[in-house]
Amino acid sequence: MRAVDIIIKKRDRGELSKEEIEYFVWGFTSGEITEYQAAAWAMAVLLNGMTMREITDLTLAMAHSGETIDLSGVVALAVDKHSTGGVGDKTTLVAEPIVAACGLPVGKMSGRGLGFSGGTLDKMESIPGYRTNLSTQEFIAQLRKIGLVLTGQSADLAPADGKLYSLRDVTGTVQSIPLIASSVMSKKIAAGAQAIVLDVKLGLGAFMTDLQQARQLSETMVMIGKLAGLQTICLLSDMNQPLGCAVGNALEVIEAIDTLHGKGPADFREHCLTVAGHMLALGGKADSAQSGKELALAALQDGRAWELFRQLVQAQNGDVSFIDQPDKLPKANLVKTVRAAHSGCLSQVHARLIGEASVKLGAGRSRKSDPIDHAVGLVIHHKVGDFISAGEPLFTVHANDAVRLEEAVQAVQAAFQWSDERVPALPLFYGVVSA
Ligand code: URA
Repeated sequence: MRAVDIIIKKRDRGELSKEEIEYFVWGFTSGEITEYQAAAWAMAVLLNGMTMREITDLTLAMAHSGETIDLSGVVALAVDKHSTGGVGDKTTLVAEPIVAACGLPVGKMSGRGLGFSGGTLDKMESIPGYRTNLSTQEFIAQLRKIGLVLTGQSADLAPADGKLYSLRDVTGTVQSIPLIASSVMSKKIAAGAQAIVLDVKLGLGAFMTDLQQARQLSETMVMIGKLAGLQTICLLSDMNQPLGCAVGNALEVIEAIDTLHGKGPADFREHCLTVAGHMLALGGKADSAQSGKELALAALQDGRAWELFRQLVQAQNGDVSFIDQPDKLPKANLVKTVRAAHSGCLSQVHARLIGEASVKLGAGRSRKSDPIDHAVGLVIHHKVGDFISAGEPLFTVHANDAVRLEEAVQAVQAAFQWSDERVPALPLFYGVVSA
């Protein structure tokens, strides 16, 4: 088989066989197929799509491109969550410790920033020493010991997704239902999840911009889950405006810490409790998502979730003094707060423009090899529907470069739209898709 023939077949809208997909995934993982060929193939998939059979074959080939973990002898039921990516989405940092604190072990393989969306691993690496490359043995040992793991794809686990994910980030091939569905589900299958709550973002700052696309992605992932024997449910959640206030790595860790201490922005806290409630229900710890949410709230309020987050950081070699005193986390040299020029009601806080501004400040990558600046980012002080008086703080830019700071100010200013009329707040969720 030749990679170029497989690329041409997909370019010409052909349906790839199982063997062709397996060959491509194997070849890319082993280095036999080059990155430029994989990028061309990803673009052909983005433009021409895949059948459900192709998506399932792709998912399984990526899941089996490395080791797969069997958690059946390790935990009674391995429940995981995954977000399709958004702006200010630090849910994992709060929801997973909550769920683990309620007695349901969570072992998670997270991703890095993708396009304008942030990545959990980049956020956690704001904490000096925190390791995101646990081996399979370390993953299992930690899950047994503290019931919580938050790591990335090592060379052992779903390496095909690890490679393709970073390539897609810089080749304009993120927004594809087959590629997102196979990326998410392959990681989950490889990491041994038996039940998964997927947080499918939709709106201006999501890869799926409308409800119809988000439903289609959800139905695809639920179907893959069913074929792979996993219980899968998708929560359709809003990503028109950033989740919470902070966008940028260390800033988001600080907001997650605040939330674990019972504070934090109301929308973010509610979002985390809802996700945790569904995870607890799916994992059999609660009869319903609502009663799961009550258990989650108790674990947040009595400090158990915070304690578990601390244990997680410690177990993965992070310096806990940085989360005990978040002031020690990386800080930008230049901080500028922009105030509202006039009074009015906010009718839009465009999440993608804000995510892009954060990437340009250095919080994300434009090229695969770009380093991340953990200190930079934005804090957005208001939500759609808020009435703001002239002179109130609107947003704060944290930058390490004066030119980039001014560019971010311009870009973020353009993200706000105003109305003289009252505007309703945006919903947090639009529905649930399950088998
Ligand atoms: N999250 C993933 O893991 N993969 C994607 O492609 C998008 C979001």
